[in-house]
Amino acid sequence: MTAGPATSALAAAGLAAARLAPAGSASDGSAAGGLAAAGSATDGLRAAGLGRAGLAAGGLASAGLVAAGPVPAGFAAVGPPAVATVTVPRIVEVGPGAVDGLAAVLRELGAVRPLLVTDAGVRAAGIADRVAGLLAAAGTPVTVWDAVDRQATDSCVESCRDAVLATSADSVVAVGGGTSIDVAKAAASLASHGGTITGYAGLDRFTRAGRPVVAVPTVPGSGAEVSRHATLTSTMDGRRFAVSGRLAGPVAVLADPDLTVTAPVDVARNACLDSLVHAVEAYLAKAATPLTDLLASAAVPLITRHIEATADRPTADRRQLLLGCLYAGIAMANANAGAVHALGYPLTNRYRIPHGLANALVAPAVLDAVLAGSELRQRQLVRLWSNSTTATSAVTACTERMTRSLSTTFAALLGRLGIAPGLARYGVPEADLPALAADVTGYGPVLGNAPVRLDHDTILAAYRAAWPVPVGTPRGRTQLAGESR
Ligand SMILES: NC(=O)c1ccc[n+]([C@@H]2O[C@H](COP(=O)([O-])OP(=O)(O)OC[C@H]3O[C@@H](n4cnc5c(N)ncnc54)[C@H](O)[C@@H]3O)[C@@H](O)[C@H]2O)c1
Repeated sequence: MTAGPATSALAAAGLAAARLAPAGSASDGSAAGGLAAAGSATDGLRAAGLGRAGLAAGGLASAGLVAAGPVPAGFAAVGPPAVATVTVPRIVEVGPGAVDGLAAVLRELGAVRPLLVTDAGVRAAGIADRVAGLLAAAGTPVTVWDAVDRQATDSCVESCRDAVLATSADSVVAVGGGTSIDVAKAAASLASHGGTITGYAGLDRFTRAGRPVVAVPTVPGSGAEVSRHATLTSTMDGRRFAVSGRLAGPVAVLADPDLTVTAPVDVARNACLDSLVHAVEAYLAKAATPLTDLLASAAVPLITRHIEATADRPTADRRQLLLGCLYAGIAMANANAGAVHALGYPLTNRYRIPHGLANALVAPAVLDAVLAGSELRQRQLVRLWSNSTTATSAVTACTERMTRSLSTTFAALLGRLGIAPGLARYGVPEADLPALAADVTGYGPVLGNAPVRLDHDTILAAYRAAWPVPVGTPRGRTQLAGESR
């Protein structure tokens, strides 16, 4: 895999002359000074197997947080960090066959007794046993624990922790989508601490490094494989909460597009939409830095050009898509998400609309709501996006980028993917909108990271804009696959 598309995306974004000051401190997109590192950083992420990529990981960008529940103490400060930092797992390998290097990576980490954590679906697809077989063939026997549940519940994390301890595992290999990876990360840290996982909700409550986690994603897009937080569900009240911190992320990621081929189309599509929102929000974030800009700018054209690979496009497209999602995940993990996530979370909490879909359904309205603080940056994103749409002619693309807003562009993508807009059709009663808007205020860290501070009335107006079923689109309740998450 080459870095070509990413490189040209960066050129298209004008990032060769990107600002050096963090987003909030320079006039928006003011191209101050030039990002001399654009070329070399791209080289650093070159993904012909991505080698042992690893951007310089000097410290933790303090704003790289998502709280998926009530705002925990210590989450309040959001703003542009003075020093641009990107923290990534120590080893990042991307490309076909990346999983074949798992035994070598474990050896490099000094791990000899891994526990493989996965769920029943991934096991049924044959992936977990294939990975276990690779390890066994390399002389590293592994125990497979396939009891990850659909909601990443606290009790599931604790059962997984028990399995880590019962097998004396010295490392954890997470094979699956975001749910398996988040459970594995939380359990690996909990195994080195005491108590229950809810006791660690919030930021940096883990004080010791846990068992090293190697993430092997089987869905493109969740970003869990590069992030330092795990999003979990409380069995007490059904609420989502996050355990986050610099000791909670995977130490290695082996992202192999061949493992994503069997992922359910709706799961992969929703995760990729989430990933696109990660890139967009990271680019518009107050906490954005030149380094996260670089990654977000590379992610947008890769994801928008290749997102249909979640259905039936060839493996080469999946490879590009996985790479784009990885860029987006690292951008989000370091610049944090924004208001789209804040309005998306309550939809998942209350109606179990899958996280990525919930974000996508509110994204056009939220992008309009934050336009005043991010107009130039939104235009830059439209330009990146239009250049990536291979189906349109150069003239059409040029006209589109002159006239289309980012919200219109996003809505058009949903149409292209056959996603019917209108929260009404996903089981959201109009009478609930004020309560949803009230819920949003509980997501202070992401809300405060948006380019414009949204008050209750603006949030409610955004929900109202996203609610109706547009005239001329199919009516009736949209069934969610499995009505899950
Ligand atoms: N920590 C983070 O940074 C972060 C970011 C975004 C989302 N998330 C979390 O990720 C979770 C969602 O994860 P997800 O959408 O990746 O999916 P998932 O892990 O929930 O998996 C969904 C379904 O797809 C199946 N599946 C996955 N890969 C497969 C494959 N290759 N072949 C066959 N079946 C496969 C699974 O068995 C499962 O039934 C949510 O809990 C969300 O909160 C975490």
